[in-house]
Amino acid sequence: MRTDEPAGGTRPLDRPLPDVAGLEAEAAEVLPAHVLGYFRGPTGAYGIPTEAERWSQVRFRPHVLRNTRDLSLATTVLGTPVASPVLVAPMAQQRAAHPDGEVATAKAVSRRGTLLGVSTNTGVPFADIAAVGAPWWFQVYVMDDRTITTDVVQRAAAAGASALILTVDAPGTDPSQPQHEPRTWSERYGMQANLRDDTGRNLVTATRSLSLDDIGWLSGLIGLPVVVKGVLRADDAVMCVDAGAAGVIVSTHGGRCLTQSTTSADALPEVASAVGDRAEVYVDSGLRTPEHVAAALCLGARAVFLGRPVLWALATGGDARVERLLSGFDTQLERVLHSLGAASLDELGPDLVA
Ligand SMILES: Cc1cc2nc3c(=O)[nH]c(=O)nc-3n(C[C@H](O)[C@H](O)[C@H](O)COP(=O)(O)O)c2cc1C
Repeated sequence: MRTDEPAGGTRPLDRPLPDVAGLEAEAAEVLPAHVLGYFRGPTGAYGIPTEAERWSQVRFRPHVLRNTRDLSLATTVLGTPVASPVLVAPMAQQRAAHPDGEVATAKAVSRRGTLLGVSTNTGVPFADIAAVGAPWWFQVYVMDDRTITTDVVQRAAAAGASALILTVDAPGTDPSQPQHEPRTWSERYGMQANLRDDTGRNLVTATRSLSLDDIGWLSGLIGLPVVVKGVLRADDAVMCVDAGAAGVIVSTHGGRCLTQSTTSADALPEVASAVGDRAEVYVDSGLRTPEHVAAALCLGARAVFLGRPVLWALATGGDARVERLLSGFDTQLERVLHSLGAASLDELGPDLVA
């Protein structure tokens, strides 16, 4: 493990892409210890294997003799067409993985025709991400000082964000905030590039005063649809939709918040069935293989968000490797759909899982 700046790009980019565990092992060789520890997260050692194992436990009931020759992975998310249901989760501090940070991620996403979430805690200005041209949603941490939130949301919307992701599972302790030497992080990776403040203080501490009314408040600020991230129960999902949410993301924040919460795989079916067609349901946390993605789509997700696998690819080869990761997921997801006898995402449903 290196202890200085990550390079990532010193080996040939056309080397074979390993599976996600292999990618993580490669990233561990190039990332400084403090970055690797932050990316893995405080609960990673417990949370992630459990989450991934739960996805792996899903068993399919495939159809045979279905014509899948014209198979397509295309769908829409809140009306935005995407070529694949594999989207990229909002993750803070991507410049710690690669000097280009979210710009590199956005380039890969753009080339794959999909969509990315952009964290409140990014070291890259909105304008640079938006210039790439990929569709993006802005992830909002509502802060105690609502004027800061209002300002950053307005600037994200002006730069081209087409929806807001309201993260609700991290009250007070924001797991997107590296605990290690905040000043060093700020100097090296340009934390919080979109928050208007030059005091160097740590601005992003998610408020504990969030309530259902904030869904309407946020959407009323600029009229963008709001997707609530971090929902793990049917009753909460229904409340969010009643309060005006256009979508919910079933998420444990990748196991970074509550170490012993239910898993996304366990929560998804109840949320999807309670929400029905009233809003879109997405999922993340622990998705590591195309089979996991197919399982999530069968269990009611319209699309999924990949988290850490993208960071590992970014760290080990920038935009080219993130693109290969995403294209690998798509190619293999097509294989899984052929095997399930499904020619489109519309044909995936609970009937296809045991
Ligand atoms: C390093 C890191 C930073 C993250 N930063 C944020 C963030 O700023 N806002 C947010 O809502 N979620 C954040 N997340 C959570 C992701 O959006 C997503 O929920 C999670 O990573 C999905 O799980 P996975 O990594 O197992 O795929 C972060 C995750 C990681 C690994």
